[in-house]
Amino acid sequence: MSDGSSFSITTPIFYVNDVPHIGHAYTEVAADVLARWHRQRGDDTWLLTGTDEHGQKILRTASANEVTPKEWADRLVTEAWKPLLDTVDVANDDFIRTTDERHERGVTAFLQKLYDDGYIYAGEFEGFYCVGCEEYKQPSDLVSGTGAYEGQQVCAIHSIPVEVLSERNYFFRMSDFEQRLLDLYESNPEFIQPDSVRNEIISFVKQGLRDLSISRSSFDWGITIPWDSDHVLYVWFDALLNYVTALGYGSDDDEAFQRLWPSVHIVGKDIARFHAVIWPAMLMAAGLPVPKRVFGHGWLLVGGEKMSKSKLTGIAPSEITDTFGSDAFRYYFLRAITFGQDGNFSWEDISARYQSELANGFGNLASRIVAMLNRYFDGAVPARGPLTAADEAIDALAKSVTERADASIAEFAPHDAIATIWELVDALNGYITEQEPWALAKDDAQRERLATVLVTALRGLGTVAVLISPVMPKATEKLWASIGAGGSIAEQRVDRAWEWQGADTAVPLESGLFPRIEQVEQGAA
Ligand code: MSP
Repeated sequence: MSDGSSFSITTPIFYVNDVPHIGHAYTEVAADVLARWHRQRGDDTWLLTGTDEHGQKILRTASANEVTPKEWADRLVTEAWKPLLDTVDVANDDFIRTTDERHERGVTAFLQKLYDDGYIYAGEFEGFYCVGCEEYKQPSDLVSGTGAYEGQQVCAIHSIPVEVLSERNYFFRMSDFEQRLLDLYESNPEFIQPDSVRNEIISFVKQGLRDLSISRSSFDWGITIPWDSDHVLYVWFDALLNYVTALGYGSDDDEAFQRLWPSVHIVGKDIARFHAVIWPAMLMAAGLPVPKRVFGHGWLLVGGEKMSKSKLTGIAPSEITDTFGSDAFRYYFLRAITFGQDGNFSWEDISARYQSELANGFGNLASRIVAMLNRYFDGAVPARGPLTAADEAIDALAKSVTERADASIAEFAPHDAIATIWELVDALNGYITEQEPWALAKDDAQRERLATVLVTALRGLGTVAVLISPVMPKATEKLWASIGAGGSIAEQRVDRAWEWQGADTAVPLESGLFPRIEQVEQGAA
């Protein structure tokens, strides 16, 4: 299995019953930023994403639209879920669909193994089922309905009535793993993060685990249970296995699995339980290593509530990227929201940050430095003379920012990493204001000092560009064409960003990195 230098990271696989909203895009972007950062520090990196296509929820949506579930899934994957990756600029290494043959093959092998080893048995079950969650609910998970659902018990997450299901089906002996899971959480505190999610899961498991019903016979849209063709597999058991089937588990070629597993899972906190309880128990039963980490991020809230399509608060990612671009989308959500906590989205906030932090903060800094090198040195980058304390402070800050940002990413704190990088942006803006290169330029005797100031600023700018490139690949690539020494900025090492010394020339930027936005469409404001 992999050593410390591999970084395999996954997003949840998304239900194809509907089109993506910015909550889904947030998960994708967070995982992508972490993956790009690790790739740019030389780790053997793999980003997996995909779609969850079986189960009752998809079946019902397809029936309502008078198509087969596979036709529905094909349409949504082609028209909505794969295009989302372009919209928010995600560089995934693989895209798995639970209807892929490779997935179905791996799932079948896994199930058969658990059955043969005695971890699956036949039994009876009755309970409250929420189709929105695709999960049986405990009475404590339910609340009283309002409006059209007055007098009924509804799911607290989806606000829709639960259904009473009674089935004879197959069960996974999850209760066998209660103590082993608690030992895992205890011995590896990093396994579930952040602590709020970890504590919730530990107390859930301490209440006692019941065996899990893993098959359904009332519909057939799923993977057939290998030893009983009247049953299909429970959609979550099917979906969780994507993380290993995508790497070749259960196939003739499992090189990627050997090299990259175990992975890190980025998930919304609402589905952390599936990933931190059911999934490791499944892996333990199969004798496979558990994930490296399950990180449960918070929810995007609109007007204080979890944004969702079913509650009509869904915002399409393109509504934001059409105005601000994908870089600003990525920057905004990762900077404004502490990763692991809920965060409120507002058009006012994204507009304000775009203007002050991106256009005025970073964009102007880049334009000014490149323009002055062209105005005063014809774009030929000069050598630095003796350094003053102010120059040395910028060099030292570039080094410390690089190290601290790298450490924040290692701790899954992209918001901290970005805030740290902005210390350098702000310091460079302050440095230029104080050093007044335009005044130095008026005095021929200050030529060497002018060169030192501009090159110190340029070096700092290059460090910022490399460090922020995993977050804003497009703007930084454009800047790199101006100040870089060729190649793509994606090839630059983030962990050595401070060492960058500048190229021989600085070519004028064709246009600003963050164009002025005249008027913001406040579609959902
Ligand atoms: N198909 C399952 C996951 C299976 S993984 C083996 C699923 N799909 S989902 O499409 O409903 O949700 C996918 C992800 O989007 C989840 O991590 C969920 O938390 C996230 N989000 C959905 N709405 C969200 C917000 N409003 N805010 C942030 N993330 C949100 O669950």
